[in-house]
Amino acid sequence: MASLSFTQIRGKNPVAEFSRTRPELGLTRPSRVGFRVFASESETKAEPDLSVTVNGLHMPNPFVIGSGPPGTNYTVMKRAFDEGWGAVIAKTVSLDAAKVKNVTPRYARLRADANGSTKGQIIGWENIELISDRPLETMLKEFKQLKQEYPDRILIASIMEEYNKAGWEELIDRVEQTGVDAFEINFSCPHGMPERKMGAAVGQDCALLEEVCGWINAKATIPVWAKMTPNVTDITQPARVALSSGCEGVAAINTIMSVMGINLTTLRPEPCVEGYSTPGGYSSKAVHPIALAKVMNIAKMMKSEFGDKDYSLSGIGGVESGGDAAEFILLGANTVQVCTGVMMHGYGVVKKLCSELQDFMKLHNFSSIEDFRGVSLEYFTTHTDLVRRQQEAIQQRKAVRKGLQSDKEWTGDGFVKETESMVSN
Ligand SMILES: Cc1cc2nc3c(=O)[nH]c(=O)nc-3n(C[C@H](O)[C@H](O)[C@H](O)COP(=O)(O)O)c2cc1C
Repeated sequence: MASLSFTQIRGKNPVAEFSRTRPELGLTRPSRVGFRVFASESETKAEPDLSVTVNGLHMPNPFVIGSGPPGTNYTVMKRAFDEGWGAVIAKTVSLDAAKVKNVTPRYARLRADANGSTKGQIIGWENIELISDRPLETMLKEFKQLKQEYPDRILIASIMEEYNKAGWEELIDRVEQTGVDAFEINFSCPHGMPERKMGAAVGQDCALLEEVCGWINAKATIPVWAKMTPNVTDITQPARVALSSGCEGVAAINTIMSVMGINLTTLRPEPCVEGYSTPGGYSSKAVHPIALAKVMNIAKMMKSEFGDKDYSLSGIGGVESGGDAAEFILLGANTVQVCTGVMMHGYGVVKKLCSELQDFMKLHNFSSIEDFRGVSLEYFTTHTDLVRRQQEAIQQRKAVRKGLQSDKEWTGDGFVKETESMVSN
């Protein structure tokens, strides 16, 4: 499903295409017959409802801008709201942006082609970008302005701080005053910030995570999502700690630690900064299957250990089509975040995501997101259980198989019955 969708968007600009088709529709005067058909269809079949309410936050659709370049300033976040995104998560902020020093180039891309090729689809994206390097005061002003202009839309602040209770409390207090609707805590940035005991350094250490979540949840008065790193052996462990330490939801995954490649001409790694590189975070299409596995594991844990409580799950990783999003929702995600997909295809891609998700829902007669959320989860089991199921199925098929398998099996005693079993009418 995923690769089919990718083919559909390849070489097209969904923004331009969407805005091209709408005015044309408006200008074309429909024939009376055409109009009648359209009217009767719309009367009988309502469009599937994409709206979701998550931790009390109402969104017109489950598509959320993931923290990163697409949520880096007022202009781009406003654009996201105008294009119809369900919610926006801003680029991660911390108290002291002056400590954040970015380098360029900081991105490298993997194409479905030989090393060094500039052709082929982009399937993987590595970044060594840090959190926001814009002054906190500026970001706060922009959050406030956005909430004033879009009071009904959901703006989530992504925050990260050093291992310091007072620092976290100050950050939470100042960000909450802007009127944002929720926090996403970046416990997951794999590069740069762990050197300051931030990001993945906390998310990878359950004792530290529990302590920091305790500080955060004692202070915050709005919902808190913990964004998890996939760079651990068992992602359910930190997810469990975050939820039992008061977080309302978890989001997964952040980027996967990666080395994008070595340039075979210069023998230097990419992205190459003054001849050197450092491992970065991997995202885009190539991480989607890994993200699905992590989300599935978290969803199973949440279902068995946190039951019906109103905890939420946000699926992230390689989403570029409505089908990709449907997969996360089928595993139990309430919302789906997109970051690299927006960098590659623009903000207007949300219209394509919504219409493809609705097409999927129509195909199955689902009228709301809750109709199918989590329904595929029960089809995951252990390998041992797969073996047991297969053996049982083979036994059953054998039991119903008609007739004797070879002439050796004729017994004489059951001759009439055996003959009967091989008669077709
Ligand atoms: C260039 C870039 C910058 C990012 N910056 C942040 C960040 O500041 N905070 C954060 O929580 N995640 C950040 N991310 C991670 C994304 O939000 C997302 O978790 C990850 O890229 C996987 O989703 P995707 O395949 O849709 O991009 C960044 C990702 C990219 C590609």
